[in-house]
Amino acid sequence: MTKFYLTTAIDYANGAPHIGHAYEKIQTDVLARHFRQRYDDVYFLSGTDEHGIKIQKTAAAQGITPQELCDINTAKFEECWKGLDISYNQFIRTTNKDHEAIVQKIFKKLQDNCDIYKHSYTGLYCSGCESFLNPRDLTEDGLCPDHLKKPEEVKEENYFFKLSKYKDRIIEHIKKNPDFIQPEFRANEVINQLEHIEDISVSRSKDSVSWGIPVLGDDSQIIYVWIDALSNYITALGYDPENPSEKFNRYWPADVQVIGKDILKFHAIYWPAFLMALDLPLPKTIFAHGWITIDQTKMSKSIGNVIAPKDVLDSFCLEQADAFRYFMMVTAPAGRDGNYSDLDFKERINADLANNIGNLLNRTLNMQVKYFDGEIKPEFITSSDNEIAKAALETVNLVKSRFDKFEVAEAAQEIVNFANTVNKYVNDTAPWSLAKEEKMDECAKVLYTVLESMRFIGALLAPYCPNIAQDIYEQLNRSEKAVDVKLDSLKWGEIPAGKITEKSKIKPVFLRVDSEIAGASKKG
Ligand code: ME8
Ligand code: MG
Repeated sequence: MTKFYLTTAIDYANGAPHIGHAYEKIQTDVLARHFRQRYDDVYFLSGTDEHGIKIQKTAAAQGITPQELCDINTAKFEECWKGLDISYNQFIRTTNKDHEAIVQKIFKKLQDNCDIYKHSYTGLYCSGCESFLNPRDLTEDGLCPDHLKKPEEVKEENYFFKLSKYKDRIIEHIKKNPDFIQPEFRANEVINQLEHIEDISVSRSKDSVSWGIPVLGDDSQIIYVWIDALSNYITALGYDPENPSEKFNRYWPADVQVIGKDILKFHAIYWPAFLMALDLPLPKTIFAHGWITIDQTKMSKSIGNVIAPKDVLDSFCLEQADAFRYFMMVTAPAGRDGNYSDLDFKERINADLANNIGNLLNRTLNMQVKYFDGEIKPEFITSSDNEIAKAALETVNLVKSRFDKFEVAEAAQEIVNFANTVNKYVNDTAPWSLAKEEKMDECAKVLYTVLESMRFIGALLAPYCPNIAQDIYEQLNRSEKAVDVKLDSLKWGEIPAGKITEKSKIKPVFLRVDSEIAGASKKG
């Protein structure tokens, strides 16, 4: 049994989801769906982060309780993920009572081990980051570089975690384990931050923040906030410092934890230190993705350019999320920033999904009906000893090795490259001319080769576009589900002899989004 455990960051429940949040959840979902095609036991966790000053303040401004605000917003996240076909196995909320109780136990264990001590402190707090900032990291005007807001000067007696104690061990771990921080180009950034690392505040006084988990035995202090948030990855599995669950033992350490580059420090420095202090193994990989902009501009409420995933689907009359999922996954190379614009979206999905992949299947099935009445004769079945079959099998390997490095955009490009190769093969062999010249055997073999290629493309595309991939499988008269295909069992020549389709069954799997009937026909 090979297990594979993946997680996303948990989103702050103080607003509604936008396409930046969606980018991360789709990316992790595509990884989960791909690895389910390879491993027996994939476990995918996502959730919401429901404590902290921002939530407390937003709720107060709306005249509701923080819990009511979290309930409203978390419902929006869950609904959004459902609409985007995010296939997590579990969704954790940090206001969950079990989570809260375990976080208290974790805090207690760190206190018992003398990793947490009380200390009087004056510091600059950014509520955007939910963290104290080092004066060295501020902009020239004294603002938080990420949120461009002036941090608040806070003087309190707080609990501190001895982060500095773990500095050398973390540096060593990063250097010895090149897979730990992915993409690799981010590792140096973390090493530099580690050089200046100091102990961190892990609680706030109840007077300044009340919406959080109280410290056991010291009600005047609230656990704040990264011990609470980061612990979700293990509390969700039923970790307990005294008695870890079977599920925890099975899945921890995580195989990949997907997060945005803005919270890499917390995941590549704080999180390993907490885990070391708890005497737990570290995740194999922290994958930091880039930032999504809109028309090359940072999304922000004040600019008014925040886009929800549903806005995109609605404005293009898309009933399913496949095209949006696909575009988001190819808009940026692994770990780099990406951009959304309506024009790029339209051009990319029309080119790749409608023209390259969709038309290839459609015209091939139409020729199969026109020349052979939809019938595949046993002698039409091609052996794997041809260039296209070899390219198909090679593409499976290329896609797998891309996914092993979490290169989701690059893996998609391998699929598109293969579809290009097959399109070129059709144009070069010109089955319509072969039919005209009555070279029917040759013509049939070309068509069979393309249909087999489409079966490979459907399986490889399924993690990105589960619905389109399923439509491809139905068009090919397959009984298995595209998402369930095990990549290691994909062999050439499995479409059987017999009738594969008939005129009335042939339907485009994806229509160009500017086509007048795109929305209407998908409803049918
Ligand atoms: O940071 N493009 O929550 P969050 C790409 N609760 N990714 C984006 C993005 C954008 N425009 N905007 C946000 C938090 N994200 C904490 C995490 S984890 C234990 C606690 C990503 O709601 C961001 O990088 O601010 C992060 O990974 C996730 O969305 C949640 O961001
Ligand atoms: Mg954020």
